Amino acid sequence: MKLLHIDSSALGANSVTRELSAAIAGRWRESFPDIQIEYRDLDANPLPHLTGGSLAQADATEAADAARTLEQFLAADVIVIGAPMYNFSIPSTLKAWIDRIAIAGKTFRYTETGPVGLAGGKKVIVASGRGGIHSGAPSDFQEPYLSQVFGFLGIDDVEFVRAEGVAYSPQHRSEALAAAHRAIPAPVGLRKAA
Ligand SMILES: Cc1cc2nc3c(=O)[nH]c(=O)nc-3n(C[C@H](O)[C@H](O)[C@H](O)COP(=O)(O)O)c2cc1C
Repeated sequence: MKLLHIDSSALGANSVTRELSAAIAGRWRESFPDIQIEYRDLDANPLPHLTGGSLAQADATEAADAARTLEQFLAADVIVIGAPMYNFSIPSTLKAWIDRIAIAGKTFRYTETGPVGLAGGKKVIVASGRGGIHSGAPSDFQEPYLSQVFGFLGIDDVEFVRAEGVAYSPQHRSEALAAAHRAIPAPVGLRKAA
């Protein structure tokens, strides 16, 4: 079984989502000691924005990184993503990663009856952090966006472990973080055997 662990927070050691994504990946390692975990820190090691040059594969180093990113995603059974809310959406580093995994013919395709996701059978667990409180509100372009993207790729097993309102006060932050740790789902429910 393979787990891909992605972080995208720019807040380093003070990051809520890094703490939560590490705890989620750790829980899988405890339950499945043989699990193969790959890690990418999109803040320390970002992918470039997708440009015309990227599509033309003008830069061999960038093209190799993009190909490896897609391979890593396709190979993973479980994907754990640290995804803070930035300006009501996700960090641009995480968007740049999504731009490299949403590839026509590889992870989705269009048919005469509409789009079909090609990356089904995976499980995605998102460690979500927000300074304010947005659950169910029209201001939330972060979690619904991630559900939409992974659903489009054929992955409907997307869970969110959420700490929100963390900017309200230190007490809000510690309570939200503790509640999120308690809400980490048990590592079960994989539909595709590795
Ligand atoms: C650049 C930036 C933009 C942010 N934008 C929002 C926002 O639009 N709404 C919100 O509720 N919190 C916002 N926040 C607060 C973060 O969502 C909050 O600090 C969260 O804990 C980030 O996760 P992290 O601690 O893992 O970095 C923003 C923080 C940063 C650094």
